[in-house]
Amino acid sequence: MKIFAIESSCDETASAVVEDGIHEITSVVASSKELHEATGGIVPEVAARKQVEFIVPVIEQTLEKTAQALEISDRVQVIKQIDAIAVTVGPGLVGSLIVGIEAAKTLSLAWNKPLIPVNHLVGHIYANWIHDSKEKEFPRFPAVVLIVSGGHTDLILMKDHGRFEYLGGTYDDAAGEAFDKTARLLGLSRYLGGVELSKAAAKCTENELSGRLPRSLINEENYDFSFSGLKTAVRRLVENEKHPVEIVACEFETAVVDVLVEKTIRAAKNYQAASILLAGGVSANTNLRARMKDAAQSINVPVLVPSLRLCTDNAVYIAGAAYFNQVEKPLNQIQANPSLSVMDRF
Ligand code: KG4
Ligand code: ZN
Repeated sequence: MKIFAIESSCDETASAVVEDGIHEITSVVASSKELHEATGGIVPEVAARKQVEFIVPVIEQTLEKTAQALEISDRVQVIKQIDAIAVTVGPGLVGSLIVGIEAAKTLSLAWNKPLIPVNHLVGHIYANWIHDSKEKEFPRFPAVVLIVSGGHTDLILMKDHGRFEYLGGTYDDAAGEAFDKTARLLGLSRYLGGVELSKAAAKCTENELSGRLPRSLINEENYDFSFSGLKTAVRRLVENEKHPVEIVACEFETAVVDVLVEKTIRAAKNYQAASILLAGGVSANTNLRARMKDAAQSINVPVLVPSLRLCTDNAVYIAGAAYFNQVEKPLNQIQANPSLSVMDRF
């Protein structure tokens, strides 16, 4: 079964064709990130206008690349091979979401294919099912899933496809948001500075600030997180003391990873998880990936991580999520839902 998916929840315009939820045939991603760097943050209206500009060229390029990949000369023949369309309906920016949703509805009508709505956060999880290397292991249930993106931090027990139990989440800032705000504070990036902060941290040879920043809620018996105090503590630290940026970055990254690893491993142990899955933009973080794998060895649970290029927003995992959770909906019931949570169904 081939699914044509569209993702437009924030500042990436993406479409992809995926077979049976695991084989990526094509993926195209256009981004307006540079524009938001110039303004030091995302302006939703600007992001939505860029979605409008990019959506048709991205869809056209996806069809062309799919024709090449499948060795079909005619675009019409490609469309014939597509079984369903999938689209992100939330969470995200309403103006951005609407562009992808209306495009998907139009394709559904024009091509006469069913439309499957997808929750973006659930989508991130399915990056772990995309089979892009021979060594790739598939997730086993029950899986403890840590979703760490720019806007969300959630810990979920995934008992099966579509069967989730919510374990906990952040009370305030998401992990990615903490990275972004701290990167801005340290002068490393004006927008989405997770990668830059992590690069700075990697230059630190000795963390002289070890333990100075808070590991909020680390000893609490729940699976919740809080990162806003950490960002404030970084501000106080740099206002009152002089330290090289790489050392502050390293202590910040270590504090975030300490909490994420501790709570995830505890959940995996308590729920006897058969696998641990990382998902979302922050799952690209080298330290998080390495330390989670190390810690999971002690409880003998495999840790699965998406390939780096599938951690941040794209349409490949949206197609994956649609394949494993095929709930078609009539077009008039498919609407943008900017505040959808990972537990929400449509
Ligand atoms: O999942 P995503 O692409 O967008 C949302 O759905 O939010 O995640 C973007 C987030 C940003 O906060 C970005 O700074 C963070 O992921 N991020 C990272 C890394 N790469 C991306 N954070 C830490 N380390 C990284 N290597
Ligand atoms: Zn995302």
